[in-house]
Amino acid sequence: MDRKERKDLAVEGLRKSFKTGSETIEVLKDVAFTAKAGEKIAIVGKSGSGKSTLLGLMAGLDRPDSGSIQVGDWRLDQMDEAQKTLYRRKSLGIVFQQFHLMPDLTAVENVLLPMELAGRADSSTIQRAHELLKQVGLSQRMYHFPSQLSGGECQRVAIARALLPEPELILADEPTGNLDDQNAKLISDLIFQMLENSGARGRKSVLLLVTHNEQLAARCDRILRLQSGVLSGS
Ligand SMILES: Nc1ncnc2c1ncn2[C@@H]1O[C@H](COP(=O)(O)OP(=O)(O)OP(=O)(O)O)[C@@H](O)[C@H]1O
Ligand SMILES: [Mg+2]
Repeated sequence: MDRKERKDLAVEGLRKSFKTGSETIEVLKDVAFTAKAGEKIAIVGKSGSGKSTLLGLMAGLDRPDSGSIQVGDWRLDQMDEAQKTLYRRKSLGIVFQQFHLMPDLTAVENVLLPMELAGRADSSTIQRAHELLKQVGLSQRMYHFPSQLSGGECQRVAIARALLPEPELILADEPTGNLDDQNAKLISDLIFQMLENSGARGRKSVLLLVTHNEQLAARCDRILRLQSGVLSGS
């Protein structure tokens, strides 16, 4: 493919169904979209419409029935499990509704974990982990364990963790869903502010943000709506 024409992210003809007993539910029927580096895209849709299913496919955690997913130079639908693990370590940052921090690791250890697994935790990365935690307002909480942090603080750690590798793609599934209004606003401000500052050492990340929060969705460059297995919007 011509480099100039190539999109940084491209999904085509994506289908995913689940079999439970004798029943098959078609969740994603024909999902297609593209994105450029630095774009922030909100994905909205009713509960059960398949938003988390779509993010799971984008993360390579599940396999589509058919269709293609390209993230940078990765072709997820053509990769084996080992390659997908590499993709997640090198190119992906994920923020979930449940923060998914390791309980036995401190805040800074949690931020560093993906880079350590990828063998990339050199001294400048460790320094950047500390800087990111400062940027999310946790300079006094670096060595706290998740049980010693509030929900909003845990999510701030998760954001720093997602941003540290300067990933090509950031997936956020209801990142403010477990927070009160005040913390939700703080976390959304942080996500956007940190994304603006990201990419200093390389390309900017694409953000795919699943949310029920209309205000948060409106802050993205585009809103895509998942309805009846199809993604539409501008
Ligand atoms: N592993 C699975 N096996 C069977 N059905 C599944 C599986 N995962 C998801 N589903 C079904 O697929 C549909 C879409 O689920 P998904 O979690 O993607 O929805 P969602 O849009 O993220 O909803 P919510 O807003 O409530 O988080 C649901 O009807 C769900 O029951
Ligand atoms: Mg969901």
